[in-house]
Amino acid sequence: MESAEIGALLDEALQLCQAGALTQAEQIYRQVLAADAAVPDAWNMLALVLYQRGELAAAAEAAERATLLRPQIPPYWLTRGNIAQARHGTREAQSCFNRAIELDPGFAEAHFRLALSYDREERIPDAIMTYRNALRYAPDVAEIHYQLAEALMVEARWVEAMHAYEAAFTRDQNAELDRRGCINCMNYLQFESVPEFWHTEITRFFARNDIDHIHYAKVVLRIFMTKGAFRAVLDAAQRPDARFEPDASALGAVMRDELLRILLRDALVIDAGLELVLTRLRAALLLDAELRAQAPPDFLCALALQCFNNEFIFAESQAESAAADRLLREVDAELQPERNLPDTLLRPLAVLAMYRPLHAVRGADRLAARRPGPAALGQLLRSSVLNVLTERTLRQDITVIGAITDDVSRAVRDMYEEHPYPRWFSLDRWPPLAFADWLGSRVPIPNAPAEFPAAPRILVAGCGTGKDPICFATDIAGAQVLGVDLSLSSLAYAQRMANELGLTNIEFRQGNILDLGVLTERFDMICATGVLHHLHDPVDGLRVLLQLLRPGGLLKIGLYSERARASVNAARAMIRQQQLPATAAAIREFRQQVFDLQQDTPVRPLLNFSDFYSMSMCRDLLFHVQEHQFQLPQIAAILHDHGLTVLGLSDLLPHAVTAYRQMFPGDDGMNNFAHWDAFEARHPETFAGMYHIWCCVPKHAAA
Ligand SMILES: C[S@@+](CC[C@H](N)C(=O)[O-])C[C@H]1O[C@@H](n2cnc3c(N)ncnc32)[C@H](O)[C@@H]1O
Repeated sequence: MESAEIGALLDEALQLCQAGALTQAEQIYRQVLAADAAVPDAWNMLALVLYQRGELAAAAEAAERATLLRPQIPPYWLTRGNIAQARHGTREAQSCFNRAIELDPGFAEAHFRLALSYDREERIPDAIMTYRNALRYAPDVAEIHYQLAEALMVEARWVEAMHAYEAAFTRDQNAELDRRGCINCMNYLQFESVPEFWHTEITRFFARNDIDHIHYAKVVLRIFMTKGAFRAVLDAAQRPDARFEPDASALGAVMRDELLRILLRDALVIDAGLELVLTRLRAALLLDAELRAQAPPDFLCALALQCFNNEFIFAESQAESAAADRLLREVDAELQPERNLPDTLLRPLAVLAMYRPLHAVRGADRLAARRPGPAALGQLLRSSVLNVLTERTLRQDITVIGAITDDVSRAVRDMYEEHPYPRWFSLDRWPPLAFADWLGSRVPIPNAPAEFPAAPRILVAGCGTGKDPICFATDIAGAQVLGVDLSLSSLAYAQRMANELGLTNIEFRQGNILDLGVLTERFDMICATGVLHHLHDPVDGLRVLLQLLRPGGLLKIGLYSERARASVNAARAMIRQQQLPATAAAIREFRQQVFDLQQDTPVRPLLNFSDFYSMSMCRDLLFHVQEHQFQLPQIAAILHDHGLTVLGLSDLLPHAVTAYRQMFPGDDGMNNFAHWDAFEARHPETFAGMYHIWCCVPKHAAA
């Protein structure tokens, strides 16, 4: 074959590759190589095609042929390195990238791939240095800045990380890079003002519907406090005068704030200061007709949604109760659900919805079904009326595994029937990953076993309102998920959320963990987070779950830490002493006592628990009918007695991981419970959420 003909064929094949016609391109490369096996470009391109198709062994062979034929060509070494990396040949990959760099020190992509390889090996300082080398030659590549930022985050170098994120996002015209790590980074930064660039980025980010708004709410709240208008309104709210009279322009700015509206609509206000502002503002909107007439309707609907989201947890005075009852009668008399809502009724309806559930208002169902404008009202009606009605229907179709018979389980069920947990509204959506990759990167568990089925069966025992099982069903490719819980209200909430996401790989059934021995299925992973400690004897529940795990399967349990719940226990003592019942009124009253306490009292750290800020979750936190708490040595003994191998702990904050590594530099697996116990003694707030523990049953030991 003439070299001109080869050149033309290679050009044609390249175009086919670019158009995604890999099979045809491969045929051409093979045709060229059959005619002349010494064309290195054809080997290199063939390697790339095979690599894209996942035929890694053949790709590696082809790439090697190219480098043997012409060892002086840097891109051939890049191809070979990328393929070696994909085959987990880290050493070979790094030596190929280094060879490419020796041949061409300005080869940015080779630097970048080398840095990624170091990153994967957790050689973070090397990765950081190498990303910086890559940027010397390709300063405008957003992806490199981004990976550098993520590596800096791992090293807790927050300020540098933010600079790298900014460099990345400025160059990311189509907003393709994930902003989540960056927003998390802001939790660790001190800032007194927010530059316009970041304000715009965060507002755009927070308006997305594929993120868990509650997760990012703390950053948003801190941003509010950098704004003069917010601080002015907060000052006014903190003044003990009977009247709440903030500066009108500051109040107007607050009510028009886009970020605040999203927070109110899609999340929970997890902040004592902002709660005070909103509580006082709500009262003013109810009692002051002039202020109500001036308030933007979108803001009124957003605040009403927040009150629905937190189940009317804000303090309510007697004067407000009486005025809300009057307003209910007025709305009731004027609402004509078959007609468009008159403008004169929009604001009263929204203010009423700040105090009373709209689904209980006569005709609200018909009004909601017609989805009247404006959009903010539509969303309020959908959430507070239609969703509630949908859940009532869905609960009737949930399969029941068996009657709940023991006293503790019945008491626990009754509590969660009234107050399902958790109250969640949105989810961080990620592209699905194979089970092993998900465990390695999303959880991550350093010691996870290597063998995983392609379509894992997952049981979530005590799944509550379904956040965990829905995350598994969306995040893990091929997963088949079963969620079981005592509470039909919780399961109906879960089913509605699953339906909204269009999930078909998830099922919910009502049942008691203690009775799950009747199931014939066996699971690759079982998850019971925040559940076993509500059983009469948590170990009884653990035994049942272990029978359902396949040999070699994974178990994830979440258990309360006694140390981390010191403030909860102090609060419980107050509640017992005052004999407060678990009613909405008593929960509101108790919360006010906590707000009024001095900063340094043992109960005040409760304000840091996000569960403190909604009715259901506050009841779960402080008024539970049944709760055990643990210390790590005790858990270690239980797991050991049941033949479980501890893999590690998850859901740790980055600064806890960094501090642990400094305290125990040799403990790479970070799964030594004696070490963690010593660490927790020094940092008692580490497991404020709970201990999230991953273990596995050795293959031979499972039932
Ligand atoms: C605090 S919530 C945790 C929900 C969920 N696992 C989460 O982490 O978001 C506890 C849940 O466990 C359920 N639960 C408690 N005891 C149970 C039992 N014996 N069998 C089944 N579910 C149980 C409750 O109904 C409740 O929904």
